[in-house]
Amino acid sequence: MSYLVTGGRVISPRDGIDERSDVLIDGGHIETIGQGLSAKGAERVDATGLIVCPGFVDLHAHLREPGREDEETIASGSDAGAAGGFTALCAMPNTQPVADSASIVEKVWALGREAGTLQVVPAGALSVGLEGERMAAYGAMATSAARVKLFTDDGHGVQDAGFARRAMEYLVAFDGIYAEHCEDAGLAAGGHMHEGERSSSLGLRGVPAAAEEIMAARDIDLCRLTGCRLHLLHISTARTVELVRRAKDEGLPVTAEATPHHFALTDELVESYDPNAKVNPPLRTDEDCAAIRAGLADGTIDAIATDHAPHAPEEKELDFASAPPGMIGLETALAITMTELVQPGVLSLDAAIDLLSARPAAILGLDEQGSIAQGRAANVAIFSPDERWTVDPNAFRSKSRNTPFAGREVVGRVRYTFFEGRLVYSGVAE
Ligand code: NCD
Ligand code: ZN
Repeated sequence: MSYLVTGGRVISPRDGIDERSDVLIDGGHIETIGQGLSAKGAERVDATGLIVCPGFVDLHAHLREPGREDEETIASGSDAGAAGGFTALCAMPNTQPVADSASIVEKVWALGREAGTLQVVPAGALSVGLEGERMAAYGAMATSAARVKLFTDDGHGVQDAGFARRAMEYLVAFDGIYAEHCEDAGLAAGGHMHEGERSSSLGLRGVPAAAEEIMAARDIDLCRLTGCRLHLLHISTARTVELVRRAKDEGLPVTAEATPHHFALTDELVESYDPNAKVNPPLRTDEDCAAIRAGLADGTIDAIATDHAPHAPEEKELDFASAPPGMIGLETALAITMTELVQPGVLSLDAAIDLLSARPAAILGLDEQGSIAQGRAANVAIFSPDERWTVDPNAFRSKSRNTPFAGREVVGRVRYTFFEGRLVYSGVAE
């Protein structure tokens, strides 16, 4: 099947492209980019008024399979991703069983291929069972069919600095990425939201910003010691942004991601006691939120990642303190980015697309992602930059509904997603 995408504004930051062009997709590849193209037998996709860009790459998504297929599966999560404009995502290893061996990551990878809606890139655990004690089989996971690049105990921070150092020393040998969920367990123990004035007035135990910052600072020191690539997951505080900025100034191989909820929401939302506002790390203050925006704008933060974390309704319907942390994000990431960053002028459209596609693709070394040049695999998102819509979780492809953005009016909507030249998502304009 071939497609002729006509009249759109084609933006590919990595290729230096920003022009009104037609795009011919054929045989899984970008065949031609140019004006006034025609192609016999190709299906026409009218992209007038739309942005045509590289498909998005999510460094952080929880697909819950194996183990919690009631919350999400690799197939449903892939569909949700495609509806959000994603053509690749990194699947976190905190499944049941944990993805800490070649056989589990290969299974996740194979299920991703079978679903065929986007590129599922499995992450491997740093420690066996996420217990922080014994190193998982990094080499076997890296050389398996899944070709694991990124290793993390996400959901938990690695508490033992000696373990973290040994893991980095091991990973540096094959250019693996040590990815940290920065959370000191002692400081975070029993906390349900950001520790500050609001947690006191709401009577909820808080997690101090220092629980994140202490581990980020420690890991940056260990990165300097070992030379291992370090990626900081879902950073949420002003000081963590500053730590990353300084590490980059020093030339250390450190990267960081931030989520839409951490640049769009603050702990004020917890006043509703809505369990959908509960997440790890917690929603922080206005000042932290502003620092995340500034870090995205000046290049300190490398990627917008969703931390898509589906949870079953019976778990999220508990009271705030009993509910598990996490919120879904694949189907709202573009709209929250457009509404909160591009519309107010924090980011240019070009920079936003770069943070959603080319830069995360480069971190994972995904050659077939993050680019829309001639001859490349046709992994493409097409979206309306100005369509207004209201977030309705019941319309999501995800199996879960736990979003704090329900009912919000947002701007920016994905219309079509192509994966390897196939039209895997097509949404209608309202
Ligand atoms: C994530 C989950 O539910 O797996 N929860 C969350 O609050 N972010 C784990 C994680 O990313 O830390
Ligand atoms: Zn995490």
